Order: sequence, then structure tokens, then C-alpha cells
Amino acid sequence: MRTRFTEAFGVEHPVVQGGMMWVGRAELVAAVADAGALGFITALTQPTPEDLVREIARCREMTDKPFGINLTILPSITPPPYAEYRAAIIESGVKIVETAGSNPVDHLPFFKDAGIKVIHKCTSVRHALKAERVGVDAVSIDGFECAGHPGEDDVPGLVLIPAATRKLRIPVIASGGIADSRGLVAALALGADGVNMGTRFMCTVESPVAQRVKEQIVANSELDTKLIFRTLRNTARVAANAVSTEVVEIESRGAEFADIAHLVAGARGRTVFEEGDIDAGIWTSGQSQGLIDDIPTVAELVDRMISEAEEIITGRLNGIVAAKAGVRA
Ligand SMILES: Cc1cc2nc3c(=O)[nH]c(=O)nc-3n(C[C@H](O)[C@H](O)[C@H](O)COP(=O)(O)O)c2cc1C
Repeated sequence: MRTRFTEAFGVEHPVVQGGMMWVGRAELVAAVADAGALGFITALTQPTPEDLVREIARCREMTDKPFGINLTILPSITPPPYAEYRAAIIESGVKIVETAGSNPVDHLPFFKDAGIKVIHKCTSVRHALKAERVGVDAVSIDGFECAGHPGEDDVPGLVLIPAATRKLRIPVIASGGIADSRGLVAALALGADGVNMGTRFMCTVESPVAQRVKEQIVANSELDTKLIFRTLRNTARVAANAVSTEVVEIESRGAEFADIAHLVAGARGRTVFEEGDIDAGIWTSGQSQGLIDDIPTVAELVDRMISEAEEIITGRLNGIVAAKAGVRA
């Protein structure tokens, strides 16, 4: 499958593994790269910029294929040293960056000067257009189904992606709710140049999260997510569990962040991923978990997505058009 995305970014398949806090580590990203897709190491999972440099080197030891770095820029009272992480990325010689969280305009000139291509991930057509205007090379657009931060507009991918592709000139990666070949074909039909997946890649053999978490994703249906931080206008879609249920309940009574801070601490979420205690804290997962019923290797996942997508296009869809032509004849 060749699209404007595969051509511009030099990857074999139009499939991306987006940044994932605690999950986007070298093991997963190298496996994604080897499978011919584009994976992103998550910069802020590394405690310091120096650790990020070491993680990039570790990934290079595992694969000779291209991969990128996700830099998530979220509002924070004590922001991480973004400029130092950015410098670490540039000095490491990585050539693709995924920005997310807020407008990447402050970082873009530095990446551009270093010859780095930037995919900006956002959740609305207006933010995608703004990113195009400031000069990013592609946008990833997350529909309401997605894991993590879907924004506050609540527009699902079936509307959001074509609303975006009819206005944007740069390549568009459809994100959120995609877990298999059907999602890939649908996204291409909506005008996208590729797909981005988080939850699906988290549930693979090489993903560095506890087996218990992967089994829970398989067990969960599309109904088993919660939207937390709605009342704070910083919505996040996470797996339904005892903690996210309690957060939503406290929010419904009119809470401030201080009232839920102890429940949503990042360290608790990390415990879920590392120890497999699925009720230890908040952990991110999307509605696409309802489409996930196995734990394949990354290569198995990517290979079957591509081969089944080709079958859908040349078989089922082609058959529908041929049948229509037959009726006419
Ligand atoms: C465990 C997890 C952690 C995530 N952390 C981040 C992050 O730190 N930065 C970011 O830009 N996106 C993050 N995301 C969002 C993904 O990159 C991607 O946009 C999203 O998962 C797409 O929706 P899907 O899960 O339905 O495929 C995370 C997703 C998951 C599942």
C-alpha cells in the first residue's frame, strides 16, 4: 500500500504507533519499525533528556529501520524541561517527531533546521489547520473514540476524519478506534493517508506492559472506558476500573483537581503497567479495546492488517462494485 504518508516518511506500511506514556519504549518501537510501520518512543517516559538519548541508542541497537520520538506538550504547573528534551532528540539524529498536546509552533523552527519531519497530533479540524499553517509535515487526528485525550468537541472519527481531509493539503493520519484491517480500509476511504493506533499496539507481545494488562484489554469491551477530567475541560479516556469510576463519581459532585489528585497520580498508573495490578491507578485505553481479542507479535499484527486490508479492497469491496457493474450489464 503506497500513500502520500508512506512516500513522505519512508515507511513501508501506512501504519503508525503513536506516543504512549510508559509504553512507548525501545522494545515496542523497534518491533514496529522492523514490521515496516512507524513507531514513536515517548520522550517523557524517560525521566531525563539524558535517559532519552540512551533510549534512542538502545532502539537503534535493536533496529536499523527509521523510528520517531513523541514529544507531548501538556499544560502543567511544573512543566518538564521541553527545550532540553527537544535538544536531546535533535542531537540524537532522529528524523521524525510526533508532537501532541498543544501547538508545536515554538518547537518547529528547531526541528525544521535539523531536517526533522513533524507529525502533529490533534483532535479538531481547526487545530489541524493551524498546525498545517505553521508548517508541520502531516497531522494525526484523534477521534472521540481514542485512548488518551480526545479534546472537548466529542466528534468521532467517521465525521472528524473526512471533515479534516477535505480541508487539509498535508497528509492526514486517522487515529482513534482503529485496531484492525477494517479500520485501516475505512480510514483510507475517508481520505486519510494512514492510521495511528495506540491501544492495539499496547496489546502485543513486545509491548512493555504486564501480561495482566494485555489480558484485561482483551477481556474489555468497547463499553469499558471512562472519560475522566471532563469537568476540568481536560478530558482523558481511560480504562474503566475502580479508580476511574471513583474519579468520575467525585467529579459529578463538582470537584477540583485537588480532590482527585491522589487517585490520578502518574506513579499509580505506572504501577498498573509494571505490576499488572489493574486497579492500582488510572491507565489509558481506548474504545478500540472492544475490537481486540488476542495478543499477537507486532509483526503478526501489522502483516495481517495489511494483507487483510488488501483482501477487503480487492475482494469484498471490488466484488460490490463488480456486482453493480454486472447488474448494469
Ligand atoms: C497507554 C497509552 C498512553 C498514551 N500516552 C500518550 C502520550 O503520552 N502522548 C500522546 O500524544 N498520546 C498518547 N496516547 C494516545 C496514542 O498515541 C493514540 O493517539 C491513541 O491511543 C489512539 O487511539 P486508539 O488507542 O484507539 O488507537 C496514549 C495512548 C495509550 C493507549
